Amino acid sequence: MGSLVSAQKADMIIPQPVQISYPKGRSTFSLNAQQPIIYTAAFEQQAIYLQQLIHQQTGIRLNLSLVNDFTNLSVEGIYLIPETMALQPAEGYTIRINQSTVKLFFQETRGLVNGIQSLLQLMPIGQYTTIPLQAVTIEDYPRFAYRGMHLDVVRHMFPVSYIKKYIDYLAFHKFNTFHWHLTDDQGWRIEMDAYPKLNSIGAYRAETLIGHFKDSPAKYDGIRYGGFYTKAEIREIVNYAQIRAINIIPEIDIPGHSRAAIAAYPELSTKPDTNWQVATTWGMYNRQNNVLAPKPATFKFLETVFDELLELFPSPYIHVGGDECSKIWWKQDPNTQAFMKEKGLKNETALQTYFIEFIAKHLAKKNRQTIGWHEINEGDLDTSTIVMNWGTEKQAIEAASKGFSVINTPGKPFYFDHYQSMDPNDSLAIHGYNPLEAVYQYNPIPAAILQKGLGHKIIGGQANVWTEYMGNDQKVDYMIFPRMTALSETLWTPANKKNYANFLERLTITAIPRYQFWNSSWFKDYKNWDLSKSPK
Ligand code: ACM
Repeated sequence: MGSLVSAQKADMIIPQPVQISYPKGRSTFSLNAQQPIIYTAAFEQQAIYLQQLIHQQTGIRLNLSLVNDFTNLSVEGIYLIPETMALQPAEGYTIRINQSTVKLFFQETRGLVNGIQSLLQLMPIGQYTTIPLQAVTIEDYPRFAYRGMHLDVVRHMFPVSYIKKYIDYLAFHKFNTFHWHLTDDQGWRIEMDAYPKLNSIGAYRAETLIGHFKDSPAKYDGIRYGGFYTKAEIREIVNYAQIRAINIIPEIDIPGHSRAAIAAYPELSTKPDTNWQVATTWGMYNRQNNVLAPKPATFKFLETVFDELLELFPSPYIHVGGDECSKIWWKQDPNTQAFMKEKGLKNETALQTYFIEFIAKHLAKKNRQTIGWHEINEGDLDTSTIVMNWGTEKQAIEAASKGFSVINTPGKPFYFDHYQSMDPNDSLAIHGYNPLEAVYQYNPIPAAILQKGLGHKIIGGQANVWTEYMGNDQKVDYMIFPRMTALSETLWTPANKKNYANFLERLTITAIPRYQFWNSSWFKDYKNWDLSKSPK
């Protein structure tokens, strides 16, 4: 391997830390393979994780040294020191490097994992026998509690190895949440025991659209497409993420976006006699029937399916979708209308709320909190659910004003399936223009929310990665990088420290060599495509 040099000065860390200070003098710590990583039993997995990462990045293989406590230790090495007293806000860490030790202080696993990422960025990428680390103190913690990246594995599916790589991307950028979109109209991607046809039928579509879904005439590739993650694979991924302190929030999208489910079990639809096919095109809203019908079999289905999901995912939050549920299929169905009348539901929006409440109550009994897309807030839902806003500021303000906690994932600029250039020859994307600078400059707390004193209602943000036009890993990489790197700073770094020119410099020095090290693609022309190129 060549010796690509990544960031070695703390000033170059991404996302930019809260506070960096250099002691007087120019002392350095010399890292070499004779030194141990010194850790306590509770953090063994993270010690091994750090050992592996340093080895992969630099060729230096440190020893591991398990201790009960850190008193009377004078050995040179890397110390992973849990603190019982709050040092920093949640997920924070402190790194102190002097000439004889590297000490990483933290309170919980997330703080340790975040500190590990900063430490790695102080080391070069290449093959070395010793690495000088400049004496420094870094004190750091995140601006937002929720920092997520979403991935749609329905429109296109990605191998387990790539899901793990994606989780590594998240850890590197100090995100804490992977939102895994597992079901939709074009496929059901999670193994289910109680409803095996979700996999034998629902996980496969006959073919896939070629080009943009609005192209006319539509063209298809004629190739059967699909698959699903087995429970064993999901357990393996959840474990992989836990070591990296990444929470995985699984999403089963109901009561709309359910075409794969009704293709498998037509009795759950408004037209049980129809031979539904798993969708082969995109953009189904109001164009094709994809909703669950309210009936006992459906509610039983929901309880059972979500119970199987809970067995796999320890996440305190479960995403139930709730977006883009067309009301027209419910309007046209006499049985649905009869159900609404019986339950006193005045319109189809109230029925949508009924579905979300039904599943949220079920999840609450199992101590899980429900997240849904902002449409869950169209009716009179109680505010114990969390609203994930994919609209504009308007929907975020509405939800926060009603008292919901909000995760802000506005289509502009946090949809990474939108273009990052206006170049007509750029690789196909859905539409729109969400350049790097827009992601960097966006304040997840809109001014109107701040003025109302509701800033605390915005618990964080996330980028969404819908994969209609991302047929393979390289295309996903191309769409997320470097925008994901900008987002990491938008969600982590104090707003008053952010500076786009400085970010671009750190991007070049710290992030681009990482993309190369990971053998990942990225959009290279980001400097040309800034906010000044936005359509007027
Ligand atoms: C969404 O983009 N329909 C959540």
